[in-house]
Amino acid sequence: MKKFKTLLATTRNAIKSASYFTDEQYKSVSKEKVDAVVIGAGVVGIAIARELAVNHGREVIVLESASTFGTGTSSRNSEVIHAGIYYPPNSLKAVMCVRGRQLLYKYCKQHDIPHKQIGKLIVATGPSEVPKLNTLMTRGIENGVEGLKLMEGHEATRMEPELQCLKALLSPASGIVDTHSLMLSMMGEAESHGTTFSYNTTVIGGHCDKDGIQLHISESKAIKNHDGRSLLQPDVILIPRLLVNSAGLGAPALSKRFNGLDVEVIPTPYFARGCYFVLSNSKTPFQHLIYPIPEDGGLGVHVTLDLNGQVKFGPDVEWINGIDDFSSFLNMFDYSVPGERAKLFYPEIRRYYPGLKDGSLEPGYAGIRPKVSGPNQVPCDFIIQGEDIHGVPGLVNLFGIESPGLTSSMAIAEHVAARLNSEN
Ligand SMILES: Cc1cc2nc3c(=O)[nH]c(=O)nc-3n(C[C@H](O)[C@H](O)[C@H](O)COP(=O)(O)OP(=O)(O)OC[C@H]3O[C@@H](n4cnc5c(N)ncnc54)[C@H](O)[C@@H]3O)c2cc1C
Ligand SMILES: *[C@@H]1O[C@H](CO)[C@@H](O)[C@H](O)[C@H]1NC(C)=O
Repeated sequence: MKKFKTLLATTRNAIKSASYFTDEQYKSVSKEKVDAVVIGAGVVGIAIARELAVNHGREVIVLESASTFGTGTSSRNSEVIHAGIYYPPNSLKAVMCVRGRQLLYKYCKQHDIPHKQIGKLIVATGPSEVPKLNTLMTRGIENGVEGLKLMEGHEATRMEPELQCLKALLSPASGIVDTHSLMLSMMGEAESHGTTFSYNTTVIGGHCDKDGIQLHISESKAIKNHDGRSLLQPDVILIPRLLVNSAGLGAPALSKRFNGLDVEVIPTPYFARGCYFVLSNSKTPFQHLIYPIPEDGGLGVHVTLDLNGQVKFGPDVEWINGIDDFSSFLNMFDYSVPGERAKLFYPEIRRYYPGLKDGSLEPGYAGIRPKVSGPNQVPCDFIIQGEDIHGVPGLVNLFGIESPGLTSSMAIAEHVAARLNSEN
């Protein structure tokens, strides 16, 4: 266990500018120095905590606003291990996805995490889509994705009799994983290397500058019950040597509440909900993942299988707004799946699965993409900011960790830990 340097005392004046509690209150709150803090117990935060604890000997505290781990985006996704085809070459998404996939398969094998490399077909259903398939093939090869193969529609139909398409791109490296087991396993390792997970614990803001970081922490219950008029007083102030903001949907709003952090570097958050429908009363029509050509904001309504053979279709893209800070910290989003959205799913799915029967789709679940680019904007890369960007030693902010964030989690962890080590 490393000893951490004493941080220089942060000036009182800077603290005063934190508007949600007063000078008097600040004096009365207990303050504690700690080694490393990770905000957010999603798959990415957990992977980072594990990496810091197991491979770098750090003493880590993970702060999570919910009553347990993985209740955010990490339990509301397709659970697909992506190959790394779609992303611009040399982008963080491309690099982290390919590296993360390799680390993930290896980890799953070593730790008996349920997973399966079932492969995926990306399908062109009309002539205008065929060139897009060629572009994806070229891009995938550039990104270092192994085994890609373009095939004629009839070859694809031989693999998947229910499938209809003009051409398809086979990606044998794609697969599926049980995210819950993955998170549990990584948490177990982190805990056995001294990591503490603190649930029902919300970071409401903080202060940071070149001299260090102070985190303002409150019980989640107090925020839920807060009337919004009085000042919210933190229960404790943590003074970490290293801080990773891995708060997912809440990460941008939270870093805006870090007094002293240059607001110029904090991206505007956008939220894009995706609903899933499940196939009822029918046997699994497909053995592979089936994806259409990607659409604006997402990868298109695709076919995913879980490890129990349950088929799900989704996610669609619905931009939502009016999200306030505390809702994003406490994961208070509307995750309901309106039954009538099925109407929009049938025609999309029937483009490649004409045998889909009327009335066979039932509402499944929904997830929200933590985006940092809006509708009709160029999709943004993952944003991983260290001291080189914002000037605060020991701080890494993660923004826009949408798909392929699950696949990339262990590579992101490696990258974040290396960055913190080289800078601190
Ligand atoms: C619909 C959908 C489908 C997807 N499909 C795939 C896929 O098939 N493959 C793939 O690789 N990726 C996929 N992804 C992306 C993947 O799910 C995410 O990248 C990944 O789960 C992000 O993990 P995370 O730990 O960053 O975030 P989260 O899991 O959201 O964790 C963040 C945590 O921070 C906590 N928190 C927030 N604010 C605070 C605060 N102020 N104080 C304390 N705690 C706080 C939250 O409660 C939450 O638990 C998909 C995403 C979506 C939305
Ligand atoms: C978190 O809060 C919930 C609901 O208030 C409670 O049931 C649970 O016991 C708390 N968990 C911990 C670890 O404090």
